[in-house]
Amino acid sequence: MKKIVIANDHAAVDMKFKIKEYIESLGYEVINVGIDEIVRCDYPDLAYAACEKIISKEAELGVLICGTGVGMSLAANKIKGIRACVCSETYSARLCREHNNANVICFGERVIGIETAKEIVKAFLGAEFQNGKHSARVQKIIDIEEGKYKK
Ligand code: RB5
Repeated sequence: MKKIVIANDHAAVDMKFKIKEYIESLGYEVINVGIDEIVRCDYPDLAYAACEKIISKEAELGVLICGTGVGMSLAANKIKGIRACVCSETYSARLCREHNNANVICFGERVIGIETAKEIVKAFLGAEFQNGKHSARVQKIIDIEEGKYKK
């Protein structure tokens, strides 16, 4: 069974619980490393905790929720091996898996409603990287990350 890691800050406690339950209803196991009560915290700490699970292969994909999704994605994308995308609609949520091999999706409780969030998660988790012509492009992202990129 695919394991999904989920994390949130104080701006997304309610949405985290609803999305966690939704992901479980789709048949995935969910590792929750987010905060469960509304206490002020710093989203980079939560993004890091979630991405650690992906890098260690305890989880395959991640779902990060904060106020906008932006802070989580900025922090996550600093971690080697993480490709995180903020999505507010389903088309990008599917394509960021199929074309960009994203392994983390981010969105904001203050930006989208719960039904849209569920559809985004379903599109992201249900899609697979398409390889082919996309592999070389994703490899260039990895090369930039690893300082190996050549113009
Ligand atoms: C917290 O107030 C808020 O800044 C955070 O949840 C997130 O939206 C940052 O990008």
